Amino acid sequence: MNAKFTPRGGFFKSIRLQTCPTNLPSERRRMSSQIIPVEPFDYVVFGGTGDLAERKLLPALYHRQLAGQLTEPTRIIGASRTAMTDDEYRQYTLAALKEHLKAEELDEAELAKFLARIFYVAVDAKSDQGWPQLKTLLDAGKDIVRAFYLAVSPSIFGDIADKIRDHKLITKSTRIVVEKPIGRDLASAQALNDTIGKVFKEEQIFRIDHYLGKETVQNLMALRFANALYEPLWNSAHIDHVQITVAESVGLEGRVTYYDKAGALRDMVQNHILQLLCLVAMEAPSSLDAEAVRDEKLKVLRSLKPITGANVEKLTVRGQYRAGASAGGPVNGYQEELEATSDTETFVAIKTEINNWRWAGVPFYLRTGKRLASRMSEIVIAFKPIPHSIFGESAGRIEANKLVIRLQPDEGVKQWLMIKDPGPGGMRLRHVSLDMSFAQAFEVRNPDAYERLLMDVIRSNQTLFMRRDEVEAAWNWVDPILKAWEEIGQKAQGYTSGTWGPSQAIALIERDGRTWHEND
Ligand code: BG6
Repeated sequence: MNAKFTPRGGFFKSIRLQTCPTNLPSERRRMSSQIIPVEPFDYVVFGGTGDLAERKLLPALYHRQLAGQLTEPTRIIGASRTAMTDDEYRQYTLAALKEHLKAEELDEAELAKFLARIFYVAVDAKSDQGWPQLKTLLDAGKDIVRAFYLAVSPSIFGDIADKIRDHKLITKSTRIVVEKPIGRDLASAQALNDTIGKVFKEEQIFRIDHYLGKETVQNLMALRFANALYEPLWNSAHIDHVQITVAESVGLEGRVTYYDKAGALRDMVQNHILQLLCLVAMEAPSSLDAEAVRDEKLKVLRSLKPITGANVEKLTVRGQYRAGASAGGPVNGYQEELEATSDTETFVAIKTEINNWRWAGVPFYLRTGKRLASRMSEIVIAFKPIPHSIFGESAGRIEANKLVIRLQPDEGVKQWLMIKDPGPGGMRLRHVSLDMSFAQAFEVRNPDAYERLLMDVIRSNQTLFMRRDEVEAAWNWVDPILKAWEEIGQKAQGYTSGTWGPSQAIALIERDGRTWHEND
């Protein structure tokens, strides 16, 4: 593969270094994504006419069709309250694919095969209407894997689970998939888990955190545990601090009611960011087995240093976007979009620590927000500076090494190093990055997280799904922060759309003599 050294000053911009011996011949690069067909299944998507089905689930399943992963007699069954025939739902699916996929991805023959898999049943979660019809349809495929995907409001998870049980739709190979939000605090998460747990066993429940399906997130595990290089350094003796940023440039995107009740801490930190933190910080699991991985993540969640009323102001920043510019145009502030007064945070920054031997004293700086300067998610592992310099002042400043794992966009890994400026004229040092962009290194399409996760449900592989105790441990850490904010009345600080959040978030890290990594 080609690796590019990029200096901060741009001096080497045109230099490309070959990183032998890992050069992959191009055939191997193309072959590096293997498709293993899954056994036939019936996917019943409750909320089949909703936003998630339209934007993510139907396109993801179509991509698996294109990849040749679906086998006969696989079916996808849309279910919602709207009255519709199979054919009408096929038209709906076709329109969704046209809207959310590129024209070159729409292959006529594959589309025809895919649409032939599509069925529809109008069901009501609160009454028996439509359930006998669903049973008749499902009975035709009773020996194949059956997955119920609840792409609906959590308020009806319990109703649907009960109907599935009452109408005897659960077979030996049935699974249920649930989307966040799983609760809005520990008590409501427990209640929701109890409701589903009354009907389904834990090994049948797949709680989706789509961040775990992202390619680079899994690469984090490969980087840590398939290389001998990093693990010996992966601790407080060598790592100064860790930064996790999940920045979005979008605003509310019409999710007014949900978002205003949730806010950034519940929407992004309790799930996605804490899951990323777990993968960075966990001990090596004994295998990739779901229980082994989830046991290790759970230990991290349980070791997070509590944030309470006594330290919340020092360790957290809440923000809310005001009018500004985003994606090249002027945008309204949060409250104008909402058309109401609100103190909900659209940005949060947190400094936390993990109370265990590996990480004692290493700060983890977390931040996420909407309407920030760009869409960018990354994990930065900032190593400690060298203990002693043998270079004089003329060599310039010696920066500490950094490993930057970019989740999106342009997934990849950058290792920042010090090297000597080329040429005669004394020893001058420069900070440059060994840059591996996955798109450049591998000529394969980067699948959407849902494609992998939907197939993992069929394969009954729970490694990338959250176990009940993980979700509850995450709430157990988040709850006191929410409570403390309320108790001390910590307000959301305004920030201009298109910036990196409130100045207090910069102060949060700069107070410690550190800075947020610049996205370069
Ligand atoms: C969702 C949040 O879970 O993740 C959204 O509810 C957010 O508010 C989204 O926009 C971000 O996902 P991605 O994959 O676009 O980074």
